[in-house]
Amino acid sequence: MQYIGIDLGTSSVKLLLMQADGVVLSSVSKEYPVCFPKPGWSEQNPQDWLRQTLVGLGELLATEHANKSLIGGIGIGGQMHGLVALDQNDQVIRPAILWNDGRTEQETEFLNTQIGIKQLSAYTGNIAFAGFTAPKILWMKKHEPERFEAVRKIMLPKDYLVYMLTGAFTTDVSDASGMLLLDVKNRRWSDKMLEICGIHKEMLPEVRESYDISGYLKTEILESLGLRGRIAVVAGAGDNAAAAIGTGTVENGSCNISIGTSGTVFIASDTFRIGENNAIHVFGHANGRYHLMGCMLSAASCLKWWQEDVLNTKDYQGEQKEIKGLGDNPVYFLPYLMGERSPHNDPNIRGAFLGLRMDTTRAQMMEAVLEGVAFALKDSLEIARSLGIVISKTKLCGGGAKSPVWQEILANILDLNVELLEAEEGPALGGAILAAVACGEYATVEDAARAVVKVKKTIFPRKELVDVYQKKYQAFRRLYPALKGIL
Ligand code: XUL
Repeated sequence: MQYIGIDLGTSSVKLLLMQADGVVLSSVSKEYPVCFPKPGWSEQNPQDWLRQTLVGLGELLATEHANKSLIGGIGIGGQMHGLVALDQNDQVIRPAILWNDGRTEQETEFLNTQIGIKQLSAYTGNIAFAGFTAPKILWMKKHEPERFEAVRKIMLPKDYLVYMLTGAFTTDVSDASGMLLLDVKNRRWSDKMLEICGIHKEMLPEVRESYDISGYLKTEILESLGLRGRIAVVAGAGDNAAAAIGTGTVENGSCNISIGTSGTVFIASDTFRIGENNAIHVFGHANGRYHLMGCMLSAASCLKWWQEDVLNTKDYQGEQKEIKGLGDNPVYFLPYLMGERSPHNDPNIRGAFLGLRMDTTRAQMMEAVLEGVAFALKDSLEIARSLGIVISKTKLCGGGAKSPVWQEILANILDLNVELLEAEEGPALGGAILAAVACGEYATVEDAARAVVKVKKTIFPRKELVDVYQKKYQAFRRLYPALKGIL
């Protein structure tokens, strides 16, 4: 059999075709725009996701190795936290408000202070962060009351795709965890949170495990793609949990770092545990267990901004040629171009270069960007370590994982063995694996991940550079508190 994995990302949807044994046969990617209608806002049109996914499916099925009669199932991993609201005719009411949108400062503050972090943490396992879905619901209720009146269904981005493809109104535990509406420990909606947000259970999708089948492709979609029979679509996962499956991050304490538009540090956990101050999230994992996660809002997007928007080049390799990653760069970069989530929970902070001199070079500024993102990831990693979790190695995925010098810098700043994988398509591969498990190809998600995921190369940290970077990190840590309120 063959399985389709889909990663509904922020800049594009990536689709791949996986053979039952895990070999990736082909992949395609289709872009769509992100809109920033006001500073700190971030929106996308859900119909763009659907249109490009259908085009992508058509292209994927036309690739050389695709066999339409062998397609068993589809699994989708998607950008988390986005608010998609549909009316009684299943029409999208307003553009989706995305995971990196910072408009809900007041609602987040209300939840964390008026309801209180102790209560929120008791109801959900987490506290409010500006990008989460619950504060967005409160924002819509206050700022767009007519639109809010019309809302009949609330769902996450990849759940919109599942709904449009199958007619099944479902979500999965990993993605639902990021709404701040789920009692994560018990894997069910929190009545208290629904009450606080003024919504009813009927407005929310049914909660499933990621590897459960949600439904089957609608007949008209089957026909338009030239497919026959029943093609299962699984509940899927948030993109980070899907990436963790696709990188084999399933054992207790194992770590995956994703450097995409966002940057995340993901640690699988067999048990539910809440960290001090809730500074990193505790969410359900796509293998039926849990994970801890820190999320920075701008990771590879800082590099993209610096190269494409500022330097006006797409020659990533050429630009990085002079960077040595030896820890002797005097320039600092704060990667807060969209505000920051973990650990600062500050939608208003902005990015900065510091330590510039007359002889500062273009390469040093670029190196500072790579280092700044790695330092911000370290902020989350150190919180996980402070919980007593011993983390000595990590898998790496996402667009940023492709840069060799960034891989080295990450290994040295994070003091981790960085494992690179044969197949780099984290979330899409995870989606395909979940579909293969649902169709009975593997007994468990763990079995499937072990069989499919192969480490290609390990980058080891160099002690002398770890020490040098540790000093620079200590200085980096002082910058956010010093600049808060100024930037
Ligand atoms: C995780 C998060 C991001 C998005 C990116 O909490 O907000 O990683 O899922 O797609």
